[in-house]
Amino acid sequence: MPYSTAFGDHFYCQTDGRLECGHVFLAGNELPQRWINASSFRIGELGFGTGLNAMETWRQWQATRMPSGHLTFISFELYPMARADIDRALSRWPQIDAERQGLLALWPDEPQGQVQLDLDAQTRLIVVCGDALASLQAWSDPFDAWYLDGFAPSRNSAMWSLDLMTRLYQLTSSGGRFATYAAAGFVRRNLIEAGFTVERRPGFAGKREMLCGSKTEPS
Ligand SMILES: C[S@@+](CC[C@H](N)C(=O)[O-])C[C@H]1O[C@@H](n2cnc3c(N)ncnc32)[C@H](O)[C@@H]1O
Repeated sequence: MPYSTAFGDHFYCQTDGRLECGHVFLAGNELPQRWINASSFRIGELGFGTGLNAMETWRQWQATRMPSGHLTFISFELYPMARADIDRALSRWPQIDAERQGLLALWPDEPQGQVQLDLDAQTRLIVVCGDALASLQAWSDPFDAWYLDGFAPSRNSAMWSLDLMTRLYQLTSSGGRFATYAAAGFVRRNLIEAGFTVERRPGFAGKREMLCGSKTEPS
């Protein structure tokens, strides 16, 4: 179970991070349904960490995609992990064994800048190394879904700031969505002030609430 001493938080819930990913990030973004009919779909993630969300998403994408669909998963990460640490963390889940091996075969020795990996002919992973807000200020392509996964808001408020939520909203396609396990009042208020329609849903593994929602106005 990877733990960040810098932020004083675990990388995912202690029950089962892979199942949490399905409950929070996929279902909260209405996936796989929304990507099935799209010719191309772009997911943004705040915090690549061990790559668990990316690998579980890749697994579900392979099981449900159309032969002509294309997925780009773009994750913003300040402290990219070393291959051996990713390997150790992801080895816990035999369900994503093939995906873990596929990622590790391509993962650079010293990740920096934009790490672009063609996981397969229909799936591109881009890990943007650096501070998420700074990277997003320089970003221009829109996203269809957001995974907000930047540690607990009480431990890392910068990943939930109004500036960052506003930038996410600007970079969200019309009808695009976000999802997070976070339920803190200031996170919900920042998302609403940024422009998102925000919904509360039951959280994973007994957590009372999580947040998800959409950009409903035309872009
Ligand atoms: C909860 S973990 C992400 C877990 C990850 N999604 C996974 O599947 O393993 C949060 C991540 O956010 C990163 N992070 C923290 N502050 C950041 C910032 N300002 N910009 C970019 N990444 C940041 C941390 O280094 C950490 O990897």
